[in-house]
Amino acid sequence: MSYKDVKRGLPQRDSRTIAVINQKGGVGKSTTVVNLCACLGENKKKVLIIDFDPQGNTTSGYGIEKDELEHDIYDVILHGQPIEETIHETCVKNVFLVPATIQLATAEIELVSAEEREQKLKKALEPLKDEFDYIFIDCPPSLGLLTINALIAADSLIIPIQCEYYALEGVAKLLESMQMVQRDKNPDLEIFGIVMTMFDSRTSLSNQVVEEVRNYFDKKVFKTVIPRNVKLSEAPSHGLPVCKYARVSKGALAYARLAREVVARG
Ligand SMILES: Nc1ncnc2c1ncn2[C@@H]1O[C@H](COP(=O)(O)OP(=O)(O)OP(=O)(O)O)[C@@H](O)[C@H]1O
Ligand SMILES: [Mg+2]
Repeated sequence: MSYKDVKRGLPQRDSRTIAVINQKGGVGKSTTVVNLCACLGENKKKVLIIDFDPQGNTTSGYGIEKDELEHDIYDVILHGQPIEETIHETCVKNVFLVPATIQLATAEIELVSAEEREQKLKKALEPLKDEFDYIFIDCPPSLGLLTINALIAADSLIIPIQCEYYALEGVAKLLESMQMVQRDKNPDLEIFGIVMTMFDSRTSLSNQVVEEVRNYFDKKVFKTVIPRNVKLSEAPSHGLPVCKYARVSKGALAYARLAREVVARG
């Protein structure tokens, strides 16, 4: 069944667009997008994922073969490809995905000379606004033009922070970028939540980091902390979110809890 068939007859929704963002690499952005969205889909929320990272980790996390793709998000933002034509169904009911491939890497350079270069993603998402409960954007690990596009397209942010030394390093810079966008382009942009990732209960460091981040961000920090769990790191190599790969693992249960918190926050 194509996306268009699925779309027919569904009620209109008011979607929330959430960018999952942290310019620090390897903190769990893509893992959070893949698994949180899968749990939201299982909770009957209709979700669209925009893979906005040239690494395409979220695309492969859902088992979508990048070599076989006709179009990806690059074609949408730079060549006016209608976004509807790039939406793929996934192995999880209610979860759809616009893929990214390495060609998106050239977008950072090509966008520099483009008109309204910071608004491309926002414009591309406009026709979809009423069709999904949530639109999630998986951001690349940088504060370049792709990330600025995501900050302008989103109405809120989820910031994953890894339970590691220097966890808050770089977060000030991220907040600066957020404030710059709030001032000039997107005054309603807000932090939806902070999620602590790769928590290791055997180390006091993990607990210290969570405490430090809670002191700083207070209630913005989700109660659910994502543990370091091998199933979460294995699942992408099977092209599956963890709820399909290892349903009763600690990682799957944590993302299911996080999804409930996200829904409760609205
Ligand atoms: N909770 C976890 N437990 C175990 N491994 C994890 C966990 N979260 C993420 N990982 C692993 O850590 C690595 C980095 O995670 P991920 O790709 O989600 O981070 P990222 O922030 O998207 O990275 P990038 O900045 O490169 O896009 C991956 O190999 C992933 O499988
Ligand atoms: Mg990633």
